[in-house]
Amino acid sequence: MARSPSVALVTASSCRNLDEDLAPLEAALLGRGVDVAVVDWDDPAASWSGYGLVVVRSTWDYVDRLEEFLSWVDHVDSVTRIANPAAVLRWNTDKRYLLDLAAAGVPTIPTTVVDPGGEVRCPSTNEVVVKPVVSAGARDTERYASGQRSEAEAHAHRLLDAGRSVLIQPYFEGVDEAGETAVMFVAGELSHGFRKGPILRPGTGFVGGLYREEDIGPRRPSGPEMEVARGALAAVPAAGPRDLLYARADLVPGPGGEPVVLELELTEPSLFHAHAPGSLDRFAAAIERFAAAGHSS
Ligand SMILES: Nc1ncnc2c1ncn2[C@@H]1O[C@H](COP(=O)(O)OP(=O)(O)O)[C@@H](O)[C@H]1O
Ligand SMILES: [Mg+2]
Repeated sequence: MARSPSVALVTASSCRNLDEDLAPLEAALLGRGVDVAVVDWDDPAASWSGYGLVVVRSTWDYVDRLEEFLSWVDHVDSVTRIANPAAVLRWNTDKRYLLDLAAAGVPTIPTTVVDPGGEVRCPSTNEVVVKPVVSAGARDTERYASGQRSEAEAHAHRLLDAGRSVLIQPYFEGVDEAGETAVMFVAGELSHGFRKGPILRPGTGFVGGLYREEDIGPRRPSGPEMEVARGALAAVPAAGPRDLLYARADLVPGPGGEPVVLELELTEPSLFHAHAPGSLDRFAAAIERFAAAGHSS
């Protein structure tokens, strides 16, 4: 007998109240007649095979539990359809993917990776950003002035001593005025854009453990921003742009003002539908389509 292609929107118990997209999305799907449930990824009582499509949303606490999270992804992938695809989630949860984008010719923020046991060398001339390779919401991410090289290195060592690999990047100060441009795609098509204000204050030192306040407003991506964002999407291994239910490219101005990728969010991006009329419905419609396409019994 045919079973309805029900959808799970996946969050985490500590993140439900932080995810402002979740309740409106659930309501939009219900409004379309989609059988939808909001489920914590680590809920032991969840029966993932009972859903036709499992959509990763605000699973932001995986940062401290990446292997457990990826095992969950593999489990769900073995019993039903997960979005984004499992291979994409595995690739995208480690910011080393920035190196792959750069190697594919996508304009990307210059990034150095240091693994535990490796040597930390911060450029002495620029402001730098130190962040873990696995992070979200700017957690454990700090900006250091050129005179704070020893503080920057101490931050990196603190992460490395905890067994975490580290990214070191120049601070791209264009973000201070322009902010970031987020380009949001649904199934490979542009859905909407928004602006995110600068987050890192100079010289505050290691903060740790916090999700930072975000200052969001509407923004229409420029032609050059669209080109870079599309290039980033096309460079994703193991999935074509249309196979990505959702994707968000975060761009900042490079030294000459040209857009470069700071982040390509294919795992758990906030979508800020409230700033883009029509975007919630576009996403709900795509979820319904993906659920129907994966429904074979
Ligand atoms: N190299 C950088 N130059 C300028 N700003 C940065 C840089 N790296 C991070 N930031 C700031 O820190 C925030 C969080 O960093 P990001 O790389 O987007 O990781 P995540 O959002 O996954 O925590 C960004 O939104 C941006 O404001
Ligand atoms: Mg970000």
